[in-house]
Amino acid sequence: MTSLAEFLTRADTIARDGTALIRAAHSRDMLDAARVALLGRKQGQLTSLMALLTGLPNDDRRSAGAAINATKLTLEITLTEAEDALGPPIDVSRPGDLTMPGRDAWKGALHPVSAVIDEISGIFRELGFTIALGPEAETEWYNFGALNFPPDHPAMEAHDTLYLTDDTLLRTHTSPVQVRTLQSYTPPIRVLCPGNVYRRDFFDATHAPSFMQLEGLCIDEGVSFVDLKATLSEFARRFYSDSSRVRLRPSFFPFVEPGAEMDVEVDLGDGKGPRWVEILGCGMVHPNVLEAAGIDSEKYSGWAFGMGPARIAMSRHKLPDIRLLYDSDVRFLEQFAR
Ligand code: DAH
Repeated sequence: MTSLAEFLTRADTIARDGTALIRAAHSRDMLDAARVALLGRKQGQLTSLMALLTGLPNDDRRSAGAAINATKLTLEITLTEAEDALGPPIDVSRPGDLTMPGRDAWKGALHPVSAVIDEISGIFRELGFTIALGPEAETEWYNFGALNFPPDHPAMEAHDTLYLTDDTLLRTHTSPVQVRTLQSYTPPIRVLCPGNVYRRDFFDATHAPSFMQLEGLCIDEGVSFVDLKATLSEFARRFYSDSSRVRLRPSFFPFVEPGAEMDVEVDLGDGKGPRWVEILGCGMVHPNVLEAAGIDSEKYSGWAFGMGPARIAMSRHKLPDIRLLYDSDVRFLEQFAR
């Protein structure tokens, strides 16, 4: 025989200890175990308490029943809160759609201008050229004086050249690397000099204030214009196609004599057929340049060229605007990630 007071104390204890048990559960398994221990139909603590109901006097059964219901409600609410706190259950019966295509990995890619520089460097490497680099901040002497520019040449004006101080500037071309190479090495010399150059130009569809150039230099005993034309024609055949024709037009640059511009016949694929496209300036290195760098111009001779890889990338990919190459727009650049 149980008294009502005893019954109510037991109900209270179950509510208090049960709440603590549920709150201490930190996994779904622990929560399930607590639910069975407290509310399980057969062995649950509440079920055992209910079995004692029949031992109570009739008048006390109503209050005892209410205590059972209150305890049950408390435990159920606490269980629901604890479940919510654990987050949504993982549905292990559905591991996802295994037939879905895999997510494409982001493939990095070389910038189209870097790709052109790499390809040209590869061709010239096969022809015996190594890479030489020089500083982007230069003195007036390396950028102009040693390259046989007369002291009053218009290119030296501040409206064309970005000066850093009276005497130092951002190089306007990669030709100063010719002078530095001639000063540091004795012929035979065969180098390719890629690098950034700077000009006070507007940034528009065809000009950029900073762009890449690729300079070539070949100096040895007995090098002639024949070597220049043969090497550059061979380069054009390897870079464009076996049947590519080139032509040289006389031109003037202070650091070469004679000087020329070279065109290649290319089909831009616009339905207009093959046409002549200018790709570089070149010539026989002026004796004054050799002498300024301390090379005996009676003994040695050679040729040089300079080209703009951005323009080559533009004609190769039919780009209408040079700014595409500098915008870093992934929608444009990812087209080169193959
Ligand atoms: N430095 C010239 C320029 O920026 C390009 C050039 C022309 C380089 C003829 C050469 C050359 O080496 O022989 O316009």
